[in-house]
Amino acid sequence: MNELDALVQTATAQFEQATTVTDLENAKAQFLGKSGRVTELMKGLAKLSVEEKKAQGAVINQAKQAIEAALQNRRAALARAELEIQLKAEALDVTLPGRQAGIGGLHPVSRTIERIEAIFNSMGFDVADGPEIESDWFNFTALNTPADHPARSMHDTFYVEGGSAEAPNLLRTHTSPMQIRHAVQHVKKYRALIDAGQDMPEIRVIAPGRTYRVDSDATHSPMFHQCEGLWIGRNVSFKDLRVIFTEFCRTYFESDDLVLRFRPSFFPFTEPSAEVDIQFASGPLAGRWLEVAGCGQVHPNVVRNMGLDPEHYIGFAFGMGPDRLTMLRYGVNDLRLFFDGDLRFLSQFQ
Ligand code: DAH
Repeated sequence: MNELDALVQTATAQFEQATTVTDLENAKAQFLGKSGRVTELMKGLAKLSVEEKKAQGAVINQAKQAIEAALQNRRAALARAELEIQLKAEALDVTLPGRQAGIGGLHPVSRTIERIEAIFNSMGFDVADGPEIESDWFNFTALNTPADHPARSMHDTFYVEGGSAEAPNLLRTHTSPMQIRHAVQHVKKYRALIDAGQDMPEIRVIAPGRTYRVDSDATHSPMFHQCEGLWIGRNVSFKDLRVIFTEFCRTYFESDDLVLRFRPSFFPFTEPSAEVDIQFASGPLAGRWLEVAGCGQVHPNVVRNMGLDPEHYIGFAFGMGPDRLTMLRYGVNDLRLFFDGDLRFLSQFQ
């Protein structure tokens, strides 16, 4: 083997040994660099005659081209290897299932409220909404509960800025103020009709929402929910209340043999007043009376505060607790679980 063939072979072998681009560039310098072997050979040509230059130059050039080709090959191989490593590192398994965005769901109490709204809607009731910061007038006085009324002591609440010293603003203790608010608006709309001695369309409404009291244990939370109901017309009676409420409870609990008991009670804004107990015929709660609502015939003073003549208009109201209805429906015995915000509990209702 002549010297040049040996040189090509050595260069090729060294290039093959280079495992990184830097190694390869260093190896290249040994042969093709300024003082590399090939360059040295080229410089040697100067000493030769013209004829020899031609012949020797051509051979050296061939060797140089062979070395350059070997370098190019190795460069390409290293680039391929590097790309492969990168592709492996960034490999994407397109067969894996996609990552789902967490889909939220309705809170169990919201579900209950939607259910209540759907059932009462089907019986011709509107749904109304009102403020949680309420005035003393709407929360108490207009509901026949004046400042010194003992019934106020059961409605200890949170007082907030606004209002006057005698009648401060407060977080509403029940949804009953919505009776007045909604009726007043309704009456305003039909004032001309009423003044002309004609009957206004009946008021038939429910008003669910948040309510507040200073109270906290397994069955009471400082924030809780209520749903008010009001039906005012010319001929609305306790019998209607009984029918409506029985229908509601049986639909809500999906139980046709559920029975109701109206137990006499007292509320300042109704007269007579009752508490509604229900009893399941089967299931874990079978045979027990469970209180679910307060109700009664709207007190004449309240009808008056609605802007109506109590000699002419009569009706009934009820107030129930969606939290308690949710507990009964799902068999939950601690109300606080609903408001702790623990997804392990809440996601069970999705
Ligand atoms: N507002 C009452 C309470 O929170 C519940 C209630 C009782 C509402 C009788 C009514 C009713 O509309 O007629 O204790």
